[in-house]
Amino acid sequence: MKGVILAGGLGTRLYPLTFVTNKHLLPVFDKPMIFYPIQTLVQAGIKEILVVTGGPYAGHFLRVLKNGKELGVKHLEYAFQEKEGGIAQALSLAEDFADGGPVAAILGDNTTDADISRTVRDFKEGSMIFLKKVPDPQRFGVPVFDPDDPKKIKKIEEKPQRPQSSYAVTGLYLYDHQVFKFIKRCRPSKRGELEITDVNNFYIKNGLMRWSYLKGYWLDAGTFKTLFLANRFWAKRSGIK
Ligand code: G1P
Repeated sequence: MKGVILAGGLGTRLYPLTFVTNKHLLPVFDKPMIFYPIQTLVQAGIKEILVVTGGPYAGHFLRVLKNGKELGVKHLEYAFQEKEGGIAQALSLAEDFADGGPVAAILGDNTTDADISRTVRDFKEGSMIFLKKVPDPQRFGVPVFDPDDPKKIKKIEEKPQRPQSSYAVTGLYLYDHQVFKFIKRCRPSKRGELEITDVNNFYIKNGLMRWSYLKGYWLDAGTFKTLFLANRFWAKRSGIK
């Protein structure tokens, strides 16, 4: 399976930090943020990676990641997202790279120590999402479970004011090649973006979505609070008190 890291956007929630570089290059303890999702993919055996980025500092990625060899990436490509069109629009730029095969897509601000190698190895078709229990689900895509069959997700709601479960859909997704067909059916949301949640809902409607709990630590580092918490977690993990 190939991997796609979605690292575009302007990172407005982190202004003024993101006036100087792309959000995904900001430090999380001793590494740029994007090293974490790269490690997650490489540990899962995914060594062909496309980084989709955009915004005024897209060129900074080359300086930091170079050809990816130091991080264990065999083949690294870059794609440029011309406008802030959302996660699904960014993923659409991976269609040629995917070449008809499945992709593991991961958001560039998601840090986790979860090992997804087995799920990646066993993945055949449809899609797979990973859920994590969180104290603030209204910040995320939130699954609505079927009351008659609690293992079944009826739909996912993006940043609902009244979340119907306490789980976040993490920014780690496995998709078969149909993802590009579903993205083409998406229409811009209220925030003017093509939402990854709409793509996931297409999979659900077609009975092609599976899910599991993400085991281990997970946090998106896209706000000041979570950036601080991610720094603290990874510092502690390496022995700093
Ligand atoms: C995005 C997705 C959301 C998901 C989250 C995970 O949110 O839209 O469904 O739960 O990533 O990090 P955003 O980063 O746009 O707030």
